[in-house]
Amino acid sequence: MTDGPVLKIENLYTYFYTRSRQAFIRSVDGVHLEIEKGQTLGIVGESGSGKSVTALSVMGLVTAEPGVISGKVGLKTANVQKNLLQDLSEYVKTATITGRIMDVYKDNRRWQKNVDRVMRGIRGREISMIFQNPKLSMNPFTSVGRQIQESILLNTAVRSAAEARDRALYWLEKVRIDSPRLRYDNNPYGLSGGMCQRAMIAMALSSEPSLLIADEPTTGLDATIQSKIVELLQEIKTTVGVTTMLISHDIDVIRALSDQVAVMYGGTILEHGPADAILSGAMAQSHPYTAALMASIPNREQIRTKAYLQAIKGEVLDTINLPEGCRFYPRCEQVTDRIQEHCRLREPGLLSISNGHRIRCWRYQQ
Ligand SMILES: Nc1ncnc2c1ncn2[C@@H]1O[C@H](COP(=O)(O)OP(=O)(O)O)[C@@H](O)[C@H]1O
Ligand code: SF4
Ligand SMILES: [Mg+2]
Repeated sequence: MTDGPVLKIENLYTYFYTRSRQAFIRSVDGVHLEIEKGQTLGIVGESGSGKSVTALSVMGLVTAEPGVISGKVGLKTANVQKNLLQDLSEYVKTATITGRIMDVYKDNRRWQKNVDRVMRGIRGREISMIFQNPKLSMNPFTSVGRQIQESILLNTAVRSAAEARDRALYWLEKVRIDSPRLRYDNNPYGLSGGMCQRAMIAMALSSEPSLLIADEPTTGLDATIQSKIVELLQEIKTTVGVTTMLISHDIDVIRALSDQVAVMYGGTILEHGPADAILSGAMAQSHPYTAALMASIPNREQIRTKAYLQAIKGEVLDTINLPEGCRFYPRCEQVTDRIQEHCRLREPGLLSISNGHRIRCWRYQQ
């Protein structure tokens, strides 16, 4: 097997149809992403920017129509090398006007059948997922230990129940659950939010996946527990080293864990590159949206006095009515006379400004 990214998303489009407005919500609108083996890619952006729909599209878990309509999701692991969206074009046709998809013809039933076939042996085995609300994602009627044991029997080479039980205990210890032997027999609702998230992380890791997708793993937990989960994920990053797609609207979480960062807005990637370059705070080197996101993080004093800065001014983009030019134009405070016409009328491409660092902004283009 030649080296290369474990996950390579190209030209991913996932739209939903809204009957009331008779139009498409362009939740994911031409996403390109790559994650190299052993690396953590952090995807950050305000709520509604398309992060979760990107992850669900990779997992074949988008059920609303029309859903995933175009693109390639290349997965390359020791066991699997395939495009998870293979044969998509057989079931979906799109009509475009000036480069934008305006109409979709999709055989949803046959597409879903194809997805289920392609994803067999991948979901839960090659790719595991951690969600925001572990209690909703785990079976409420079975003990957490039992669920991990079952997942090990289903997804790994372990065949004996006793050995799977030992492995489940190993993973519960690994995520630092106190008294793992006692917790083994607890149902998810018998655990606190933080404990349950640890159990969910143990379950996701127990299948020894090639790719872990963590969608807002700390959101909804209180602040102290959030930082403990971040510490745990940092520790796991060093000891287990699993390739990870980490999704969070919280830039501090992204900063603590990511090697690479993608900044998402209005269904597309505005900036992608090494975490230290993107999150350095050097305005001259970052996308105006990233700079605004960074500026909206409250400092300690503001947190203490509860005087939070307003998030970025203006409304999050309504992807039904995309602006003609740059998606961020209606909220951007860095438009200059030189580029104003471009910003308003033409969408910039994602261009490289330095090694591996790409920005979608006219400020960086001639
Ligand atoms: N099943 C769905 N049907 C219609 N719209 C959806 C659906 N799922 C997500 N959306 C819309 O897609 C956009 C992106 O959502 P999402 O990926 O959940 O954002 P994020 O995770 O970045 O907060 C939002 O506008 C959301 O309302
Ligand atoms: S292209 Fe123009 S509007 Fe868009 S982010 Fe850059 S400066 Fe702002
Ligand atoms: Mg989300």
